[in-house]
Amino acid sequence: MLTARMTMLQDEENGRIARELHDSAGQLLAAIAMNSVLVEAETHKVSAPAAKGVSENAAMMKEVSKQIRTISYLLHPPLLDEVGLGSALRCYIEGFLERSKIDVKIDIPMDLARFSEEVELSIFRLVQECLTNIHRHSGSPTARIRITQKGACVRADIEDAGKGMPLEREPGSPAHTGVGLRGMRERLRLLGGTLHICSDSDGTRVTAILPTVRATAVVPATQEVDRPVALTSEASITDESGCARQRG
Ligand SMILES: Nc1ncnc2c1ncn2[C@@H]1O[C@H](COP(=O)(O)OP(=O)(O)OP(=O)(O)O)[C@@H](O)[C@H]1O
Ligand SMILES: [Mg+2]
Repeated sequence: MLTARMTMLQDEENGRIARELHDSAGQLLAAIAMNSVLVEAETHKVSAPAAKGVSENAAMMKEVSKQIRTISYLLHPPLLDEVGLGSALRCYIEGFLERSKIDVKIDIPMDLARFSEEVELSIFRLVQECLTNIHRHSGSPTARIRITQKGACVRADIEDAGKGMPLEREPGSPAHTGVGLRGMRERLRLLGGTLHICSDSDGTRVTAILPTVRATAVVPATQEVDRPVALTSEASITDESGCARQRG
C-alpha cells in the first residue's frame, strides 16, 4: 500500500517536473533556436571555424530540445490532461503500433467521459505496461484495447493472442520478479479498483475495473484482490465486483 501511495506522489511530482521542463527549458531552447537562425543567416561574415561552430550549435540545440521533450513525455503522458484518456491512448497506441508492428485494435468510445487525473493516469499507465508486456513476453501479433464505462465504473481490457503467462511468473507467485503488474495492482487498489488476469495458451487478458467516483477511504486489501492471479476461467474476467468495493 505504501508503494502505491509513493507511486501516486511520484506521478504528481513527475507531472510537475514534466510541465516545468516543457515550459521553462523547452521554451528557452525554442527562443535560443530562433536567435540562432538570425546568426546562421550571417555565417558568411565570420571565419570558417566560427561558422562551423554555429552550425554545430544549431544541431546540438535541436537534439537537446528533442531529448527534453522525450523526457517530459515519459514523465507525464502528453495530451492526457488536455484531451483526456481516449484521445491520449489512441495517440499512444498509434505510436506503439508503428514501433512494434503489433496490430492493435482500439475499442474506445469517442464520447468517453473525463475522469479524475489519477484514474485517467492509472488506466493510461496500465495500457502502457500491458502493451509493453505483450511486446516483450507474449509473442502475439495482435492486441486489443477496450475501454468501457458502466455506471460509476470504468473498465479496461487489454488482450493478446500470445502464448500466455507462465504460471510461475504470475504476480503474487514467489517466482514473480516483475514490478510492472504488481505495481499496477497496487495502484488500482489504492483507487478502490481491481485487476484480474486471465491467461492460458491462447493468450492473456488483463482487466481493470475502477470506480470513477473518488473513494473516501483506502480500500483494504481483500483476499480476492490480493490472491495470486492464477485465473483461467472466463468468469473471473466478467466479474465486475470492483464496483461493489467502492466507498464513499
Ligand atoms: N501478455 C503477456 N503474455 C505472456 N506473458 C506475460 C504477459 N504479461 C506478462 N507476462 C509474464 O508475466 C511476468 C510478469 O510481468 P510484469 O509486467 O509484472 O514484469 P516484467 O514485464 O517481467 O518486468 P517489469 O514490468 O518490471 O519490467 C513477465 O515476466 C512475463 O513472464
Ligand atoms: Mg512488465
